[in-house]
Amino acid sequence: MRKSAQNHETLKQKLNPERMPRHVAIIMDGNGRWATRRGMPRAIGHRAGVSTLREIVKASVELPIEVLTVYAFSTENWRRPQDEVLALMQLLVEYLDLEAENLRRNNVQVRAIGQVEDLPLEAQEKLAAVARLTSANRGLVFNLALNYGGRAEIIRACRTLAGLVQEGRIRPEEISPEVFSNSLYTAGLPDPDLVIRPAGEMRLSNFLTYQAAYSEIWVTNTFWPDFTRSDYYQALLAYQRRERRFGGL
Ligand code: FPP
Repeated sequence: MRKSAQNHETLKQKLNPERMPRHVAIIMDGNGRWATRRGMPRAIGHRAGVSTLREIVKASVELPIEVLTVYAFSTENWRRPQDEVLALMQLLVEYLDLEAENLRRNNVQVRAIGQVEDLPLEAQEKLAAVARLTSANRGLVFNLALNYGGRAEIIRACRTLAGLVQEGRIRPEEISPEVFSNSLYTAGLPDPDLVIRPAGEMRLSNFLTYQAAYSEIWVTNTFWPDFTRSDYYQALLAYQRRERRFGGL
């Protein structure tokens, strides 16, 4: 066995299966810096980021984790140069083409969260096709956050609920945290227990703003393309060592 494989296997064995997070969310950051430091175009960093994503999905299936949500494109990412946005959309289409069958075979249920209707048509069609292909799977729920923004999601939920109030289908006092959660893209799923952020930034960047209210956050300086199974297991071990109080004692 290679040394790195040995290292991550050792870490994996330290995990307590009874204290696994149900939902892990990841802000896949640092692709651009990873590429720039190597004198390469940013798009190459995103491509390397897709390889990491493949490995982490595989690791999540094996553990197993119930829900994995990854931040692939934010509502703010449209501000990037047009060629970078285009490269990201092309990578998404390529990823879905290459991985669809593999995800289906591994019992992964793929979903997209965000304003998917504003993505290029080809990306929308591929996402819908993969979602359809994997809809009967009952293993890992894999959410791809695309054109996603936490505030936009909250506003969308408010509009939905306001509409229901207007139609007399729900009374304002019936809007509870549960009802509100069920109006979000992540309806029916547990809130993220753990948010992992590579590349050192200590913020949530509009990711799962409502759902992450009590999430544990784990940050590493490692850029996403260099993020390995060992980093993933280290994040999970750190999570298992923490005491979660949810505001109690
Ligand atoms: C942040 O790195 C990353 C993104 C904006 C996109 C994340 C996308 C991928 C990992 C690949 C595409 C995903 C799929 C599913 C095909 P950054 O560019 O902000 O890095 P920087 O902060 O170093 O500039």
